[in-house]
Amino acid sequence: MAERAVSLDGRQADALAAAAVAVRAHAYAPASHFHVGAAVLAADGRVFVGCNVENASYGLSICAERAAVCAAVAAGVRELRAVAVATGLDEPARPCGACRQVLAEFGRDLHVLLVGNDGKRRETNLAQLLPEPFTFADIPDSAEN
Ligand code: THU
Repeated sequence: MAERAVSLDGRQADALAAAAVAVRAHAYAPASHFHVGAAVLAADGRVFVGCNVENASYGLSICAERAAVCAAVAAGVRELRAVAVATGLDEPARPCGACRQVLAEFGRDLHVLLVGNDGKRRETNLAQLLPEPFTFADIPDSAEN
């Protein structure tokens, strides 16, 4: 399997980071008070955003990254190029394991921008964060095989 990180030009990276920072303002996090914003860049150039949405039944909370992926898929997207994740931390946070697996479904070569306090940025890629995801190719009878 190819593990090539798709490059992102500076302008796209800035726009994606800004979208993640902006949507973070809408995070609903009364339990953790940890506000997260995410923005995904689709292969066709469109950007979709999501924020974390917590619930009084804690286990039902959804992360910002997965909310952004769902928005993109609902708009017809099947391939993602990049994701930006914004938190208010001095050291930008990385996506949780569940979100890494969901992101891998739509972007094996995904570029990952981690945005912290004051716009402080770190760049990585999904192949590094999740080297061996479970995929439909692992299911013998799936439609992908
Ligand atoms: N959270 C995200 O939105 N993304 C992550 O990758 C990690 C965690 C949210 C879930 C929960 O609402 C809060 O952060 C604390 O875990």
